Amino acid sequence: MTNNELIEKIKRLKEEKDAVILAHYYVDDEVQAIADYVGDSFYLAKVATNIEKKVIVFCGVMFMGESAKILNPEKIVLLPDETADCPMAHMAQIDRIKELGAQYEDLAVVCYVNSTAELKMHSDICVTSSNALEIVESIPNKNIFFIPDQNLGSFIKDKVKDKNIILNDGYCHVHHELSKESVLKAMEEHKDAAFLVHPECRKEIVDLAEYAGSTAGIIDYATKSDKKEFIIGTELGVMYELRVKNPDKKFYPAYDKQLCPNMKKITLERVADALENMRYEVKLTEDVIEKANAPLKRMLEY
Ligand code: 13P
Ligand code: SF4
Repeated sequence: MTNNELIEKIKRLKEEKDAVILAHYYVDDEVQAIADYVGDSFYLAKVATNIEKKVIVFCGVMFMGESAKILNPEKIVLLPDETADCPMAHMAQIDRIKELGAQYEDLAVVCYVNSTAELKMHSDICVTSSNALEIVESIPNKNIFFIPDQNLGSFIKDKVKDKNIILNDGYCHVHHELSKESVLKAMEEHKDAAFLVHPECRKEIVDLAEYAGSTAGIIDYATKSDKKEFIIGTELGVMYELRVKNPDKKFYPAYDKQLCPNMKKITLERVADALENMRYEVKLTEDVIEKANAPLKRMLEY
């Protein structure tokens, strides 16, 4: 089937099944193009709370589909590829949470949304890269265990000096592996370009940037900036929206292979298959939904 035929099929099935398509900025361009809502993790979580349709097709990875289900238990949430999982989402241990909980009476477990529903069940509040700093600053607890991302955690720790922020050793391989050499090479090749980065990158990379923030933050910064050229230090799916919004500006990758293999599993074929066969449904028990809902809701209320 050609792409045009697939797009027509998706449109028809969307009506038939009463479905809405949500997509993260990291999925393929053609998937972003057919989505009803495209955004960063925070925006998509907010959108998910206000869906009228019966079915949500989540073009992203498992933790995103899980969050949509937790926030909308009565809806059918479909993940077009059931193996599209984020390795970092699993990189924290419940035992460590319990150990620190026993050690610090006022411990707050702050959980990046890039985490499994199980980790969320053991957390006090969720954050995304677009609100982590504000939330950590405003919660009253002095002792904070930030899971699972060590890089976003240390980005926050650097800025919030009056709290004891305990880091965990998880990381996103797509961002963690961006090397200083690649960034310096791109800077050398594009001397007038501003370097914009995601805080899932390591500190030595973030320190080189003019701006560090979520995918939506990066797009917004580049769109509002008077500059004409940018080096982008995040998953390259963001290039699509950057170029749609800024046809007169130039965007260069800090590393041309910065691609998330799991996000890239979501293709037009998979989306059409998801709608046609109503798969793969995100299923969570009532207990998980109830317990993981509390920290997500707290984040949305902030
Ligand atoms: P944001 O959508 O919060 O920018 O997160 C990036 C990410 O890694 C999602 O997988
Ligand atoms: Fe996970 Fe990183 Fe891929 Fe986001 S980009 S889904 S954090 S592996």
